[in-house]
Amino acid sequence: MSGFSSIRFGADYNPEQWPKAVWDEDVRLMRGAHMTSATVGVFSWAKLEPRPGEYNFEWLDEVLDKLHEGGIRVILATATASPPAWLARLHPESLPVKEDGTRLNFGSRQHFSPSSSAYRTYAMRLVHQIAARYHSHPALEAWHINNEYGCHVSHSYDDESAAAFRAWLTERYGTIEALNEAWGTAFWSQAYSEFAEVGVPAQAPAHRNPAQLLDFNRFSSDALLALHREEAGIVREYSQGVPITTNFMGFFPRVDYWRWAEHVDVVSDDAYPDPADPDSYVLLSAERDLMRSLGGGKPWLLMEQAPSAVNWRDRNMPKAPGMNRLHSLNAVARGADAVCYFQWRQSVAGAEKFHSAMLPHFGTESRIHREVQDLGRELAGLDAVVGTEVKAQVAIVLDWDSWWAIEQEAVPASRDYLETVLAWYAGFLRRGVEVDFTRAGASTAGYQLVVVPVLHVASTAALDELASVATRGNTLVVSYQSGVLDPQLHAYTGGYLGGVGSALQQALGVAVEEVAPLASAETVTLLDGSIQGAATDWQERVEVRDAEVLASFDDGFAAGQPAITRREHGANSGIAPGAAWYVGTQPTAPLMDALVERWLADAGISAAFAAPEPGVETIVRGGFRFTGNHTAEPRTVTIAGKTWELEPYGAHYEPIAT
Ligand code: GAL
Repeated sequence: MSGFSSIRFGADYNPEQWPKAVWDEDVRLMRGAHMTSATVGVFSWAKLEPRPGEYNFEWLDEVLDKLHEGGIRVILATATASPPAWLARLHPESLPVKEDGTRLNFGSRQHFSPSSSAYRTYAMRLVHQIAARYHSHPALEAWHINNEYGCHVSHSYDDESAAAFRAWLTERYGTIEALNEAWGTAFWSQAYSEFAEVGVPAQAPAHRNPAQLLDFNRFSSDALLALHREEAGIVREYSQGVPITTNFMGFFPRVDYWRWAEHVDVVSDDAYPDPADPDSYVLLSAERDLMRSLGGGKPWLLMEQAPSAVNWRDRNMPKAPGMNRLHSLNAVARGADAVCYFQWRQSVAGAEKFHSAMLPHFGTESRIHREVQDLGRELAGLDAVVGTEVKAQVAIVLDWDSWWAIEQEAVPASRDYLETVLAWYAGFLRRGVEVDFTRAGASTAGYQLVVVPVLHVASTAALDELASVATRGNTLVVSYQSGVLDPQLHAYTGGYLGGVGSALQQALGVAVEEVAPLASAETVTLLDGSIQGAATDWQERVEVRDAEVLASFDDGFAAGQPAITRREHGANSGIAPGAAWYVGTQPTAPLMDALVERWLADAGISAAFAAPEPGVETIVRGGFRFTGNHTAEPRTVTIAGKTWELEPYGAHYEPIAT
């Protein structure tokens, strides 16, 4: 599916940081580490084009030939991620501008405005050169466009960005009247009489127009995507049949990967979980599941991870022994066909010299290198899973518009969207239940259980699709703060959930009258029903029209009001009964566990773990059951009557009985 015949094992390789004499040793040691792939050229622009139009490819020819002779395949980068000093000097207007008007300087990387025409011209010229020169190099196995688009600069407030934003808005709205209507500019005298008056939402005296902010997020994601697409288009002119990718950054808040994923041949991801955070396995696992879901279930590539510590947190903890293997197998189990690192040889100069690498400063006789060698050997034996998919019966809706809107200023309560979504995801992870992420509005037909956490912004069509989950006989779970705003951030009036009389209100049998955030550390108790426990963050007054109240708030502003409801569908109509749950609060972990149990039962899904197993995961891919222990303690787990002992940070896999 990803087109590879074995699990790719490799790293970013930055030979330009090293004298030639080191290159031969690199290839020899890469072979010793069972490396199959090297990503080359990510930051090579200044070396490849030292002066405008003056190209220097001989060194790269030599590197690629050496890798080829050594049997290492190459994921070739387009080298456009860090423009050379001459570009900043010739075109200072290509440098990005922050929200407060400050222009960023040359001297690190990614110093280009996504809408800079000078950057674009020079970058595309370089891509032509690279693609023309290397499209038939025998080592080439994939193209790596740019690097982590938007990582440091996703939004730029320079003049060219403002002009490009106006062009994007003109295309979207057609007339200034339509923009005024969509942005609600009757408010605070914000009406525009022509597009020329519209600007980027830079710093302003008070709350900015929410729809303008949201459109600027959408535009900024699209502006970067346009760069990616243009590069990919050039590469495709020269090179057919070689997969194209660009490395995503997991749940990256600033670009909408649902829109990006259709423009890569294979999804790839960079993941840097914090070894010091015992809960980071939740984010890590969810990130893998997202990558698989972005590709429509197809295998994806783990393009970068650290063999041990990174260098960019306040305190950079190493990965404990075993953790590197565990995280790598976690990726493979959740659909990766490649396990790669940043980077091969640890730098001795520059800002990343304290970032771990496959070949550390200490050399080959090191814990890190030995672990890497062992892993390379082990992955070479896992060919059987390559190209296989993971089957999930549960889908969680993830939506960038909602993410952007719910984290805006001037909302009922500030919220970390990702943290909220992960709290719902974690309930399934603790039970060893496979989960996909799905896009709002996409068909949910393949899933028995669809969970909708804080889908703040949604079109009527997307909400109708969700309502259909329950009416067609499956289980739908919708949380508070869903269906509150339409895609232009106008409130749905008459009970939210898509507004008065919406299909979703009908499916759930409830409407929301009033919301009441809790103080950040406050918890409330749910009593008076078949479900009891504690909740945080949120309460509401819910009008129940046609649903069973399973729990009510015992205290807080909404004491006595319904907290969790369930409406059964089609019980007597000859179709399989469906259920629509509404959860008007944020369950604490124990309550979430109890609810997951109920939802799985409603949906007829059996969990791998009979009870929640925090810190432990299990997943099935390609005929293997993978089990991993993300805790520092030994753990014993039982699945379907079979018991495994897992060491601290241990991972185990074996074929499933058929
Ligand atoms: C990534 C980046 C790599 C390297 C790595 C360090 O964001 O793509 O080039 O900087 O982080 O963790």
